[in-house]
Amino acid sequence: MRSTLLAPDTGNRILQWADLLARHSEPPWDDRGELTATYLTQAHLATSGDLAQLMRGSGFDEVALDAVGNVVGVYRAALKGAPVLLTGSHYDTVRNAGKYDGRLGILVPIACVAALARAGRRLSFDIELVAFAEEEGQRFRATFLGSGALTGDFDPQWLDQQDGHGVTMRDAMRAAGLPGDMAAISALRRDPSRYLGFVEVHIEQGPVLVEQALPLGVVTSINAGARFVCEAGGRAEHAGTTPMGMRRDALLAAAEISLLVERRASQAPGLVGTVGQMDVPGGSINVVPGVCRFTLDLRAPTDAQRDALVSDVLSGAKEIASRRQISLECNESMRAAAAPSDPAWQARWERAVTAIGQPVFRLNSGAGHDAMKLHTIMPQAMLFVRGGNRGISHNPLEIISAEDAALAVLAFEALLDDLDTTHDDRQD
Ligand code: GLV
Ligand code: MN
Ligand code: MN
Repeated sequence: MRSTLLAPDTGNRILQWADLLARHSEPPWDDRGELTATYLTQAHLATSGDLAQLMRGSGFDEVALDAVGNVVGVYRAALKGAPVLLTGSHYDTVRNAGKYDGRLGILVPIACVAALARAGRRLSFDIELVAFAEEEGQRFRATFLGSGALTGDFDPQWLDQQDGHGVTMRDAMRAAGLPGDMAAISALRRDPSRYLGFVEVHIEQGPVLVEQALPLGVVTSINAGARFVCEAGGRAEHAGTTPMGMRRDALLAAAEISLLVERRASQAPGLVGTVGQMDVPGGSINVVPGVCRFTLDLRAPTDAQRDALVSDVLSGAKEIASRRQISLECNESMRAAAAPSDPAWQARWERAVTAIGQPVFRLNSGAGHDAMKLHTIMPQAMLFVRGGNRGISHNPLEIISAEDAALAVLAFEALLDDLDTTHDDRQD
């Protein structure tokens, strides 16, 4: 059995920290006891404040909020000028979320650094932990904003985007005390030559590990994805007097497109397609829908499969719209390439899992992760942790056990040990 610096109550502490962060929720979800913390809302800012405090209290040498709201903690190496291991995950949530999506990947490294700091141990590399401010693309159409700022992928046009209440991202940033200008945001771009790589711990968000009765899984690749925001335009008119054959119903076009998404994504294993939002702005019970706004989220294991799925859905949607005499505009809001794990970093997770006495099980990720962004500038690999309730996620029923959380921390500690002795063989 390898020796560990971890306290025996580590798993419980992770769950307690997640509960602490989940106290912060925005209206109206807070009143219902549901968790929602979207980008730069009061709940989100309170969460970043708690995370900064937790990092400081756990022994990080430097803790700061950056220009997009990421909370960045650094635990210094024994020697100055050492290379850096980057890790982290996101602290924003979907609406009515679970407590662990994203946050687990922040709390696990905090527990490891707390143990190192308690023992007065320094490694041969800095640990830089980033609690990413935004990954879910909820308040603004700017998915992976936090990690995108580190890779130089922050789109300047995002600053002018408005949320559902007409607040621009720039104004939301300034109200939160952030500069809200591109000079400060561009400066967040990391120089990959300083970094060993990026590792991310995340709850699996699916049923595979539960079915395998295994607490941990090593990720082989993250699926590619693309998202679109669409608007169908028809003719609003009287619901009582307009004969069925004379209507140009925008909602029915969107509904038929949703069924096309379902049919096309069902054609091959691994493909998924979702219409997660559909809205008839200003609609009435007795008016044929004149406008329908809806979203498309299309994913596949490879970029080529994703591109074929996107192309078939968009061309099929065009045909449906034209047959129904509906105008249709679909604007792409996100495109992320599939991110296969770096073989050397995947092997490190596998050694870490083996070192703590667990079997190595490999799986790919259907969900998107900050690691997909970091993938564009440095090697990355992820570790998944089993979720309970058949792995449900993006749902308040998302849970993990204290035992599994503790195993994730142990595996992370084993990866740090492994890296401490082997990082000199990194590729430049
Ligand atoms: C992020 O949670 C995603 O949509 O995969
Ligand atoms: Mn999520
Ligand atoms: Mn996530």
